[in-house]
Amino acid sequence: MNNKNILVTGASGFIGSHLCVALIEAGYNPIGVDNLSNSKAGVLEKIEQITKKKITFIQADLATPQALKECFAAQPITAVIHLAAFKAVGESTEQPLRYHSNNVIGLLNLLNSMNEFGCNKFVYSSSATVYGIPQRLPLDEEHPLASTNPYGTTKIIGESILRDVATYSDDYSCISLRYFNPAGAHSSGLLGEDIVEKPANLFPVMCRAHLTPEYQMTVFGDDYDTKDGTCIRDIIHINDLIDGHILALEKCLGENTGYQAVNLGCGKGWSVLEIIENFEKELGESINYKIGARRPGDTISSYASTDYAKKYLGWQTKHDLPSICRDTIKYMRASGAR
Ligand SMILES: NC(=O)c1ccc[n+]([C@@H]2O[C@H](COP(=O)([O-])OP(=O)(O)OC[C@H]3O[C@@H](n4cnc5c(N)ncnc54)[C@H](O)[C@@H]3O)[C@@H](O)[C@H]2O)c1
Repeated sequence: MNNKNILVTGASGFIGSHLCVALIEAGYNPIGVDNLSNSKAGVLEKIEQITKKKITFIQADLATPQALKECFAAQPITAVIHLAAFKAVGESTEQPLRYHSNNVIGLLNLLNSMNEFGCNKFVYSSSATVYGIPQRLPLDEEHPLASTNPYGTTKIIGESILRDVATYSDDYSCISLRYFNPAGAHSSGLLGEDIVEKPANLFPVMCRAHLTPEYQMTVFGDDYDTKDGTCIRDIIHINDLIDGHILALEKCLGENTGYQAVNLGCGKGWSVLEIIENFEKELGESINYKIGARRPGDTISSYASTDYAKKYLGWQTKHDLPSICRDTIKYMRASGAR
C-alpha cells in the first residue's frame, strides 16, 4: 500500500474508469476529475463495486482553473494521468475550435495548476493518430508527426507543449502514451466502452449492429491494397493499455524521465473484416454490415512498433483479439443487452 494520490482526469470515461480500478488495485489513491460531458456518474459506483473502495471524485471542468487549483489545494498530488479530452475524429472536423478549446486549453490549465503546486510527474493520453499517414510500418516513435484532422492536431500540440515543459526543466517526468485502438472491457462486465450514446469506434459499432435490428453497420471500403481490401488496425485490450499506464506512472515516480513518447499497441495489423469475423465467432451470430465507400481521411494501414515499449517500460500486450471480442460481448450482455 503506497497511498500516493494520483490525479486522474477523465476518470469516469472508458479508459479512466478502468485506470481508477487498476490504480486502487496497485495501492494508489486515485483522485478522479471529470465534467461528465461524455460519461456518467454511475460509473463511479461500478468502480466501487469492483474495488470495494470509494474513490474521491470531483466533478469539474478543466476549462475552469479555479476548480483545478481547489483540487490541488485539497490534497497533495504526487502525479497526474491526463485522459480528459474530446476524442471523436469526425466531430473534430465539424467543431475544430471546440476541440482545440477543450483539449489544448484543458491541458494548459492543468499544467499551470501542477506548476503552482510543484507537481512534475505526468502521464498523457496521446494517440497513434499523431503519426498521420504512415510513411513506414510498423509505426515507431521516431516516425514524423503529422495531422490529418483537428483531433490529431490537438494531440500533436499537447505533445509539443509537454516536450517543451519537460525538456526545459531539470526535474520533470512526462510520458506520452500513443494508444493504437483500445477495445474490450473489464472482466467483471461492469465497465466498458459506451455502446448507447454515439458509438464511433469499431467495437461499440459492432455491438450496436448486433443490438439494433434496423441498424446496419458500414465497412468503409474493401478495395484498398491490403490482404482483403479493408483497412488494417492494431487493436489493444483495455487491460493491456491500463498496465502500460501503471508502468509509465511508476517510471515517472522512480526517475526524472524528461519527455518520452511510447507506443501502446499490439504490433499486429488486423483487417476490419478479420475483426468482424472474430467478433461474430465469439458472438455465435452474424453482424449486419455492408461494404460502403472509402471514408475520406481513413489511414489504410496502421500498427505499432512495440520495441520501445518493451525496452523502456518492459511492457507488451498479453490479450489476443478473441479475448477482446469476448470481453466486449460480456460487457454488452451485462449492460442489459440481448
Ligand atoms: N478510446 C480510444 O479509442 C482512444 C484512442 C486514442 C487516444 N485516446 C485518448 O484517451 C483519452 C481517454 O479516452 P476515452 O476513450 O476514455 O474517452 P471518454 O470520452 O470515454 O473519456 C474522456 C472523459 O473525459 C471527460 N472530459 C472531456 N473533457 C473534459 C473537460 N474539459 N473537463 C473534465 N472532463 C472532461 C469526459 O466526460 C469523459 O468522461 C482521451 O484523451 C482520448 O483522446 C482514446
